[in-house]
Amino acid sequence: MNNFVIAGNWKMNTNIETTISIIKNVAEQVDQLNEVKSTIVICPPFTNIYVAVQEAKKSKHNLHVGAQNCHFEESGAFTGEISLDMIKSLNCDYVIVGHSERRAYFNETNADINKKLKAVLKNNLKVILCIGETLEDRQSHKTFDVLETQLNGCLQDIVENDMKNIIIAYEPVWAIGTGVSAKTEEIEEAHNWLRNYCEKKYANAGKTVALLYGGSLNDKNAPEILNVSNVNGGLIGGASLVPEKFVSIIKTAESLSK
Ligand code: 13P
Repeated sequence: MNNFVIAGNWKMNTNIETTISIIKNVAEQVDQLNEVKSTIVICPPFTNIYVAVQEAKKSKHNLHVGAQNCHFEESGAFTGEISLDMIKSLNCDYVIVGHSERRAYFNETNADINKKLKAVLKNNLKVILCIGETLEDRQSHKTFDVLETQLNGCLQDIVENDMKNIIIAYEPVWAIGTGVSAKTEEIEEAHNWLRNYCEKKYANAGKTVALLYGGSLNDKNAPEILNVSNVNGGLIGGASLVPEKFVSIIKTAESLSK
């Protein structure tokens, strides 16, 4: 298995000033480490990506910057939308697609997400695909049906060779932003299920695809959660805005890397 992926999703937080100061602080702390095996990705709002990339470049390690969304069309009359050409020209290399907040508040369907995912791959960027069940789904024992429907829909037409550019983030909706993560047994069950799904569908590529956990992952619970089998990293919201917490999670990942 590859090393950990530690990704921060800043959501609709920060401005130019705070973006610079957070990344500077993270870079200064990370630069004290001789070697960083984990892949670190920071996903600020679109308007802050440019300065984030400039600031991240100053680190001696490779701090990647990603976008939180994209439009699937190349260009045209889509007022307010951001194309992959625009994202690419910012020199960022990851794009999150299918976040539950986009599904819930912007009515994104699995078919929309599939179009976005294919557009990201066509532009040679890497995808962080988010999936996850709601509390209602879980309580009605539909978790794995929901995950399967999301994966089948979002990964339609995706072949084994594409999987090297895809990361899957399991984010149970009920654990996002609540301060209470899923229990390790719940995470393990979901991640083992996901690994099995990926292996069945994508053979060898399914064995190595990174499976991230997201949902109230923080500096305190990272040692336990990152140690769960088939958890290859985290997608972190709130704690990624606090440099000490984000770096602490990175250090946990480093200590668990072989
Ligand atoms: P929190 O870490 O704030 O729960 O957010 C998780 C998330 O949605 C990351 O994409």
